[in-house]
Amino acid sequence: MDEKTKKALMDIVGEENFTDSLIDLVSYSYDASEHSHRPSCAVWAETPEQVSGILKLADTERIPVIPRGAGTGLSGMSVPIEGGIVLDLNHMNKILKISIEDRLAVVQPGVVYDDLERALVPHGFFFPPDPASGKVCTLGGNVATNAGGLKGAKYGTTRDYVLGLQVVLTDGRIMRTGSKTMKSVSGYDMTKLLVGSEGTLGVITEITLKISPKPTATSTALATFGNLEDAGRALSETMYSGIIPSALEILGRKTILAINQNTDLNLPEVDAIILVETDGYTREETDYQMNKVIEVFKKNNADDIKQAKAREEAEKLWTARKSAYAVLARIKTHFVLEDITVPMSRIAEMLKGVEAIAERHNIQIATYGHAGDGNLHPQILYDGYDPEQVKSMEAATAELFKLSIDLGGTLTGEHGIGLSKASFMTLEHDPVAMDMMRSIKKTFDPNNILNPAKMGLEE
Ligand code: LAC
Ligand code: ZN
Repeated sequence: MDEKTKKALMDIVGEENFTDSLIDLVSYSYDASEHSHRPSCAVWAETPEQVSGILKLADTERIPVIPRGAGTGLSGMSVPIEGGIVLDLNHMNKILKISIEDRLAVVQPGVVYDDLERALVPHGFFFPPDPASGKVCTLGGNVATNAGGLKGAKYGTTRDYVLGLQVVLTDGRIMRTGSKTMKSVSGYDMTKLLVGSEGTLGVITEITLKISPKPTATSTALATFGNLEDAGRALSETMYSGIIPSALEILGRKTILAINQNTDLNLPEVDAIILVETDGYTREETDYQMNKVIEVFKKNNADDIKQAKAREEAEKLWTARKSAYAVLARIKTHFVLEDITVPMSRIAEMLKGVEAIAERHNIQIATYGHAGDGNLHPQILYDGYDPEQVKSMEAATAELFKLSIDLGGTLTGEHGIGLSKASFMTLEHDPVAMDMMRSIKKTFDPNNILNPAKMGLEE
């Protein structure tokens, strides 16, 4: 980066909020995916006006800008693959307002998911998406990636809760979208377009979120299955049994073993465990739902079903489940983690398909996921220094995507396209849809400076 541009950036954010030291640039070169590339510099912005100044400068100079939250993304969306300026939004971390009367919270993008959760507890409210990385991920990142989590089947994903945004555009203009109302059909839904746009259209500087009353009672149970097909059928049947569990998670054998190696939970080492939670406002309500689920599990040959007795025991199970990705990451030098999502009736086929793909390519794939909304996480574990294994990983990945699409599913239910799935976009979206997406990108970002090379938007 030339001295003039460097000086101009420092004039906008202050010298202390600019860095091009090697140690920082290395830290900003990666996220939680397998991709990495160093930026030229990074800046911490503290106001929308500063973001506006940065974008205007970068647009004039044609320098890529990569907005960044906590860097927990699993698809490379915050990796500065073409270099440029990393725009770190972690200093914009204030909860600006919680209005219980209006059922909303207004936050800056750098607020950590769990910090908002904690602030809502005294009011008896919550923000439901519940990403597994909730302890560290930021709400700006959640919105930019339309993050989802363990409660998706019942409560949906981030997009279902974003009422409005403040967004800075590449020409420096500051735009407000949406409203503070529970519903609005006023004009095109710019808010929902920006949610999940992975930092390719604008930089989010303020978010208005719908919040919900937090259920006060939960029941949690763990069921073991001797084979994946029975588990798969139990999962889809649960979802049409007349109730919707607040969480319905599957863990395959490899995932169970990895969790056992890293915790003192001693989970039964079987082919599949289903973890289920029902929620409501009375014990009767949650038990009524749980009994329905247990009926379905029994009918589908569950070997053993245990209900958690205390909240503590349940919380331990959920913490262990949320650690799955991290404990599996320790097994081999490298991994890729997918989040293919299929229609509910196709889960059993997808589970079987994942096993067949692993066998065909002689590669380890551990599986778990949010089965309640058809979202599976096959995590491919491989040695990235062995060219043969890299080839197998690539072939297995391509087959996983193809199978998901063939079953009527999608490439990604929660981790986004980023770099990892960019070359597969055309597998899911027809040429007309791709053309429209590219036109939208050009309208927002004619010089292609915002998070370039992501989402398969470049021809
Ligand atoms: C999870 C993350 C990887 O569900 O999406 O654990
Ligand atoms: Zn997940």
